[in-house]
Amino acid sequence: MYFPTYRMRRMRRTPTLRRMMRETALSPDDLIYPLFVSHGENVKRPIASMPGCEQLSIGNLLPEVREIQRLGIPAVLLFGIPSHKDSAASSAYDAEGVVQLAVRAIKDEAPDLVVITDVCLCEYMDHGHCGVVQDGEIVNDMTLELLAKMAVSHAEAGADIVAPSDMMDGRVAAIRAALDDDGFSDSVIMAYSAKFASAFYGPFRDAAESPPMFGDRKSYQMDPANGEEAVREALLDIEEGADIVMVKPALAYLDVVKMVKQETKFPLAAYNVSGEYAMIKAAAAKGWLDERACVMEALLSIKRAGADLIISYWTKDLAGWL
Ligand code: PBG
Repeated sequence: MYFPTYRMRRMRRTPTLRRMMRETALSPDDLIYPLFVSHGENVKRPIASMPGCEQLSIGNLLPEVREIQRLGIPAVLLFGIPSHKDSAASSAYDAEGVVQLAVRAIKDEAPDLVVITDVCLCEYMDHGHCGVVQDGEIVNDMTLELLAKMAVSHAEAGADIVAPSDMMDGRVAAIRAALDDDGFSDSVIMAYSAKFASAFYGPFRDAAESPPMFGDRKSYQMDPANGEEAVREALLDIEEGADIVMVKPALAYLDVVKMVKQETKFPLAAYNVSGEYAMIKAAAAKGWLDERACVMEALLSIKRAGADLIISYWTKDLAGWL
């Protein structure tokens, strides 16, 4: 069974043989494109640390949506940049909030495009934390009510999938119950089940204008040291009614992607986050890396690890390349 009887290079000899032997393939079907929707008129604000990404007001979102459809991308993930922040995140669940308006506008333009909304309070809270703050603490159970209201208002606007990214305990159950009570039993929940307290979110916090004003997110987001806990988080979310579970970030957590897939057998999304994007972009801008080759390799590795869906800022480029 050893050399010289077996030669692994036999199967790598020609491009066609290599094509036949490929175990994993990327497809536009698996991609989700994040969009930052800003309040205001005619906003098209480039995000410095995420070259190629912009904050867009609703009017400027529509040409983007047409382009996304033309490229065959099935889904977008919306983040809101509201004009008003307060300590109750009131614009997060306002029927006239920026995300709610954007969902309606997108659904008018492109009814078949799957619209996913990020359900988290940090962009809407004046303190920038993902939950209600009392005496310097992020209070879990009071937050659930607000998250549930937010998810219902997104579903009312027409969102197909709500994606809680706050990491409060019990949010999936609270959101599922509220959606069902209000007649949205077909709304899908994609839970950010294993969301780590990662330094790779740095550029996103500029993009979404959502850095915490005090402290950090380590009392609710996961410790990067923990893989088994990530599996427990995913299993709990599934018990509570999650339809899709997520691991985030992706590249520094491919072992977690693999473990969660193996243990749950549930549809699994992986979020190729802003810092992972910025690293390759910056190196490519210096001529140190070949962007396209590195992106294909990185996203393929996420797929190979077991992700069914990939959320990536390269989605449009990738759909074009494929
Ligand atoms: C909001 C949220 C964050 C990201 C997605 N939703 C930031 C955070 O938790 O601080 C990060 C996405 C990225 O870095 O691309 N809770």
